[in-house]
Amino acid sequence: MSRRKPVIAANWKMHKNRDEALQFIYSVNMEVPGREYVDAVIFAQAPVLRDLVKRQGDHLDIGAQNMHEKTEGAFTGEISAALLSNIGVSYVLIGHSERREHFNETDASVNRKLHQAFRYELQPLLCVGESLKTRQAGKTQSFVRSQVERALEGLSKEQVAELVIAYEPIWAIGTGETATVEQAEAAIRGIRETLAELYDAAVADNTRILYGGSVKKENIDDLLAEETIDGALVGGASRSPDNFLYMCEAAYKAKSP
Ligand code: 13P
Repeated sequence: MSRRKPVIAANWKMHKNRDEALQFIYSVNMEVPGREYVDAVIFAQAPVLRDLVKRQGDHLDIGAQNMHEKTEGAFTGEISAALLSNIGVSYVLIGHSERREHFNETDASVNRKLHQAFRYELQPLLCVGESLKTRQAGKTQSFVRSQVERALEGLSKEQVAELVIAYEPIWAIGTGETATVEQAEAAIRGIRETLAELYDAAVADNTRILYGGSVKKENIDDLLAEETIDGALVGGASRSPDNFLYMCEAAYKAKSP
């Protein structure tokens, strides 16, 4: 039995038009297990967020894939936390490796975004994870620890206990190559140890930590069977309603009391 409520998060990235997004929501929103059992979250492209929020129903939450760190101003093309919150979005992804790689996000900007998300009562989902080169150099634990330490700078114990963290090794994203349960477990255990050192044992124990990277129907059950893994952040496989529902059900079965 797990004390932490599982999270199944769909990161659609830059996929799905409005019709496809709505179709997906209509086919899953009544079917996913209730919020008391699983937090099921859809991270969609910004222009459809409001439409999805209106139709999310009682079982789903909607999240943005990014936001700017400042409240407002001359930042053409950016999206404010204030607006996301204002239109009823409840989650925001912070520090996805694709944003770190292609849009120059740094640990420092990730930290500022986390503070800003909390200011606007958005639930942040922080992503961390190492490259293949870092793993091959045997530096996974120290790299992920440093990402977590820098991301959380200045956040209170209460805020961190609210946070959801996803461990997503970059070499497993979109490659079809999933981390083994042992690799995922070791990295997530390392994150919990970091939280215990930075805060305390209760924070380490209560913070929900997910695995992401080529999660699919075929491997989610094994991942969820691991006590320390509280769910999954899913890219490609999450775009199919059947797969998404399967994963939400799997989380319900694996983690509910
Ligand atoms: P895939 O599940 O397609 O590997 O993507 C993982 C991911 O980046 C989720 O944020």
